[in-house]
Amino acid sequence: MAKIISILGARPQFIKAAAVSRAMGRLSTSLANRIRHVLVHTGQHYDENMSDVFFEEMEIPKPDYNLGIGSGLHGQQTGRMLEAIEQVLLKEQPQVCIVYGDTNSTLAGALAAAKLHMPVAHVEAGLRSYDRRMPEEVNRVLTDHVSDLLFCPTQTAVVNLAREGINKGVYLVGDVMFDCVQSCLQKVRSQAERILGRFPVSPGKYILATIHRAENTGDQARLKAILTALGKLSREYQIVLPLHPRTARYLENYGLSIDGRVKVTEPVSYLTMLALEANARVILTDSGGVQKEAYWLKVPCVTLRDRTEWVETVNEGWNTLAGADSDRICQAVHVALGPKDRPEPVRYGEADAAEKICRIVLDFVQGRHSVSTAQI
Ligand code: UD1
Ligand code: UDP
Repeated sequence: MAKIISILGARPQFIKAAAVSRAMGRLSTSLANRIRHVLVHTGQHYDENMSDVFFEEMEIPKPDYNLGIGSGLHGQQTGRMLEAIEQVLLKEQPQVCIVYGDTNSTLAGALAAAKLHMPVAHVEAGLRSYDRRMPEEVNRVLTDHVSDLLFCPTQTAVVNLAREGINKGVYLVGDVMFDCVQSCLQKVRSQAERILGRFPVSPGKYILATIHRAENTGDQARLKAILTALGKLSREYQIVLPLHPRTARYLENYGLSIDGRVKVTEPVSYLTMLALEANARVILTDSGGVQKEAYWLKVPCVTLRDRTEWVETVNEGWNTLAGADSDRICQAVHVALGPKDRPEPVRYGEADAAEKICRIVLDFVQGRHSVSTAQI
């Protein structure tokens, strides 16, 4: 029996792990239950609408462990996770520890396993914004450098790793988030009318916005400039803003408010989010995952950042980096709303990234794969 552990903790990781968990289940069934996939939730995200809703809607099995770490400063949160994950790894003795993306849960999982000489598999390896002020960039770089299996969503990611001297154990598999979008498209189409009616907004008639990244929320001037842009845009367009709890907390701390015309909601479920994205006229975001989803759903995106790790979306003309400058943001939205020839988005794989990841992990466990060298 192969024992594989997945470490998750934050919203985008539940979505990524949903695809892997489903593929792991299918593979295990076809091999007559030869895989035990242990799920560890660090508890980084804990609100019902930041955690449970994804497990229910995406049918992710209940985690075997919930470490209940919660919020805290980076060192405090990561340190607590490290200590608790280590105990689980010592008890479970998995053959591979899978970590996802670039959060503090990713780094803690990778570090705990690497220190115990347990192989680490990183899903979404090789992404780089080349901006170390972003906590995610630090988490990615460190995680990649202690990983044994590195699952890249794009060729750019493979090249980024090679530049850092990492070419062993690197696999270009596609993006598990693309798998998730593809598997939900039919439901999104059939349920869109009902979902949009809840806000209420009409297809193609609104802007969808999300803001949560540390570089925007932790900087009062940047957050204020973004809110100014939303205020100006809301005079002409309907705006829906599912508000991340981090942003809600900072708005309160700074005493800032959002223009009353913006439809502010609690964070929404994955299916609701995809329906809102697919039918938006433009998406404004600083999220990593939302930039990609906008691209795959062919909705122009204005990214509230100075840099992105998802460079293809910008190079292909679907995404514009507008930073946190209110005039630049408004200008970019007006351009995005106008007519523009954009190429068909490149696919991030064939919607079988999770399947490939599970097969490679299992082959690795069974010693069938010596760690391969990436072909660039
Ligand atoms: C984390 C990730 C970020 C990712 C995001 C996805 C790190 C360093 N950052 O950011 O890369 O894009 O998740 O959403 O790992 N809070 C709640 N309820 C919750 C969770 C958080 O109220 O369920 C509030 C708390 O005030 C907390 C703050 O949000 O202090 C930030 O949460 P945290 O998990 O530290 O980071 P995120 O901003 O969510
Ligand atoms: N998402 C969601 N509900 C929301 C906001 C986002 O389901 O209210 C989904 C979104 O569709 C994407 C993922 O969460 O799949 C992105 O996570 P987030 O923006 O929190 O983090 P990031 O990708 O920036 O790390």
